[in-house]
Amino acid sequence: MSDSSSLGCILVAGGAGYIGSHTVVCLLEAGYEVVVVDNLSNSSKVALDRVEQITGKSVTFYKADLCDDGALEPIFEAHTFEAAIHFAGLKSVSESVADPIHYYRTNIVSSLNLVTTMAKHGCKKLVFSSSATVYGDPQYLPIDEAHPLAIDTDSPYGATKLMIERILQDVHRSDPEWKIIMLRYFNPTGAHESGLIGEDPVGPPANLLPFVCQVAVGRREKLMVFGSDYPTDDGSGKRDFIHVVDLSDAHVAAVKALPNVSIEAVNVGTGKSTSVLELHAAMEAVVGKPIPYEMAARRPGDICECYASCGKAKEVLGGWEAKFGISDICESAWRWQSQNPQGYADQA
Ligand code: NAD
Ligand code: WQD
Repeated sequence: MSDSSSLGCILVAGGAGYIGSHTVVCLLEAGYEVVVVDNLSNSSKVALDRVEQITGKSVTFYKADLCDDGALEPIFEAHTFEAAIHFAGLKSVSESVADPIHYYRTNIVSSLNLVTTMAKHGCKKLVFSSSATVYGDPQYLPIDEAHPLAIDTDSPYGATKLMIERILQDVHRSDPEWKIIMLRYFNPTGAHESGLIGEDPVGPPANLLPFVCQVAVGRREKLMVFGSDYPTDDGSGKRDFIHVVDLSDAHVAAVKALPNVSIEAVNVGTGKSTSVLELHAAMEAVVGKPIPYEMAARRPGDICECYASCGKAKEVLGGWEAKFGISDICESAWRWQSQNPQGYADQA
């Protein structure tokens, strides 16, 4: 139950994960109480212990699978939630191509169960983790929220984000009491400045920065740079890398903005794009030694470049904008990786 000094209690589904754990820190620091529900399928309870260490505040944790019918019921009976943030789900593009049923089931069923239970208990304020992947190969840059959606996306992962956005639009249309912000993240990277929490992928990282970090720390031999012939200045792909702490702050801003919205899709990026080779060079500067790499063929399905138009975020999220740049991202990611070479397994 929320006490009178708190801003209220926020349910964070998937809150033990990479972005969720950083967001829990920001929520606690902003004065919210937090209840995390996570099945730990891609995360460690240690992350939440570290969150408590960083903030000096406690987090209520339930290990539960959102896909299990009724799993959320006792949690909603025990707490009154101001709003929910829905991070829970699977996020690998390549895994989703290999096992689409698992991806559709996990991402769609978990979302349906969450909104069903929320509606039943009269909690109708939701922030949802969407992705810039919904835009597909950009038709123009920067990408604004009016950019067409890639309804013919090749990736089941991307399709789940599109479907959940559609489901939420329909839920809102059926009951306008719902207040929903769908945040479309660009490329989340970096770690909390303490080095206590960060990205800890299971198996070989699919994403660029964790791979670079694992090469730098000696867990992997070299980085393969996918693509040297893109029409960019250095031939490598370009992305809008957003610091996970900026992204987490955007969630707190979204929770605060919810009472004044109906349903909105909002880009969360920096508005700048950085090439793979530039990011690699920035990490080398931080680490202070060469990070071996080799140029390789393009990765199937990759786009050349994307970066966000950030005007709507500033407007909807009460003036929010990204504060951190590439060197902050690299410094924080390296602090996390060098202090925890094996990720949370170092402590678990
Ligand atoms: P993550 O895997 O670290 O976090 C997701 C969390 O959800 C994990 O802790 C996992 O254990 C939990 N989870 C998965 N299935 C669950 C279930 N059925 N029941 C309960 N918990 C479950 O991923 P992340 O990088 O923190 O991403 C969070 C969200 O943001 C995801 O929805 C992802 O699709 C989305 N997103 C991520 C990125 C990115 O590059 N990291 C980009 C855009 C969008
Ligand atoms: C960035 C760049 C790669 C790894 C993915 C998802 C997207 C979103 C964020 C969830 C590209 C290159 C990468 C490597 C490389 N996730 N690269 N060597 O592909 O922009 O986005 O994560 O919603 O949906 O598609 O991110 O970090 O995988 O790649 O050269 O070992 O780094 O080719 O140009 P991406 P990424």
